[in-house]
Amino acid sequence: MLLTGATGFLGCRLLRELLARGEERITVVGRGTPDELCSRVEAAVRWLDTPALAPDGLAAVRYVSGDLLQPGLGLGSQERARITDGLTTLWHSAALLLLEGDPAPLHHSNVIGTRRVLELADEAPGARLMHVSTAYVAGQRSTGHIMEDDLADTGGFRLPYEESKYTAERMVHAWASSKGRDVTVFRPSLLVTDRPVPHGLPSQPTDLLLRLMEQITDSGLDQGATVPGLLHAPRRSAAALPYRVQGDPLGSLNMLQADYAAHAMVRAAARTAPAAGVRTMHVTHPQNVTFETVAAAVETRFPGLRVSMTPTLPRPTPLEKIAANFAANPLVYSTHRRTYDRTNLLAAVGPLPDPEPVDHAYLTRTFGRTPATVR
Ligand SMILES: NC(=O)c1ccc[n+]([C@@H]2O[C@H](COP(=O)([O-])OP(=O)(O)OC[C@H]3O[C@@H](n4cnc5c(N)ncnc54)[C@H](OP(=O)(O)O)[C@@H]3O)[C@@H](O)[C@H]2O)c1
Repeated sequence: MLLTGATGFLGCRLLRELLARGEERITVVGRGTPDELCSRVEAAVRWLDTPALAPDGLAAVRYVSGDLLQPGLGLGSQERARITDGLTTLWHSAALLLLEGDPAPLHHSNVIGTRRVLELADEAPGARLMHVSTAYVAGQRSTGHIMEDDLADTGGFRLPYEESKYTAERMVHAWASSKGRDVTVFRPSLLVTDRPVPHGLPSQPTDLLLRLMEQITDSGLDQGATVPGLLHAPRRSAAALPYRVQGDPLGSLNMLQADYAAHAMVRAAARTAPAAGVRTMHVTHPQNVTFETVAAAVETRFPGLRVSMTPTLPRPTPLEKIAANFAANPLVYSTHRRTYDRTNLLAAVGPLPDPEPVDHAYLTRTFGRTPATVR
């Protein structure tokens, strides 16, 4: 078995699940020297508390330096032969997750990088590919029920990240049909944990939201006023500072516990009979979370803000102008009315209880602290 992206928020959970299933040999390919890779991966996997792992559970892992940005992943021919010899399953989880900025690095990591992984898979013709994509390949399609076999760019994309993952998925399809390969594509939604992640361990995407909110609330306003100053001014009530986000007020987000996602993915992979072709699974929560619920949890984290969503943003306040500059505000990015079909996932995982709700209490814990403040 081979895994890319094991130092990531999802990737380290996939590794722990694979180890807990008793995989005898897992090659982790990632950046840095093998020793650096080993210490980062081990720190992340040991910090996780489920599933149970034997004390020597990590002994099955071998670490190999490899980079999606390098031709041939930066692997020498001997190393490639060693890695691919007898390989049964290749999990490709590594990707660049950037919600803003230049599309080129995203294309390089997520499209060209995936092509390099497929070239490695060419050298292991008996290996199954588990390709980690995202529910956001649905792009700007904001309504309706997204089927697991849907893969179209007709609605366009809000972000280059979505487009890069969409293009990679299409490439995986073309590769599987031209080579007659066995591929499972997993499409997780926004993954979360309610356990504060210590600094230095793989952080969750919502930490980006919190950092943006911190930057926004720390920014200077007109006439030298600051948001913290306004929030703490004695004459202002606790909910005195409105913060309107432009978007769909009836929108909702799909958020799934990362531990559950990794468990479901590894379980689905193990229970799926090998067959040529691509099967796609939405690794999503059965219930979306309303924007209202997310906003209430953000307000708990930033007392004094009153967060709302509005279709238009007339006469933005200084705070809202600053916030609008953060074009990739994940609150807007992730908010849709769409829902996700889970038929293929449910058929593959078999009897598995639904994840616990991602509700106000859960999100309050999720947003409770940012890594910088964790001691
Ligand atoms: N997290 C989510 O909410 C979410 C939701 C939907 C889909 N996904 C998908 O799930 C997968 C894993 O996400 P994640 O949450 O684990 O992301 P993450 O925490 O950002 O980790 C990304 C992983 O990719 C690796 N990587 C990035 N660039 C690389 C390169 N050039 N060469 C080799 N490795 C590289 C990183 O290695 P370094 O540690 O060296 O940077 C890290 O292991 C991705 O395919 C992502 O698109 C994630």
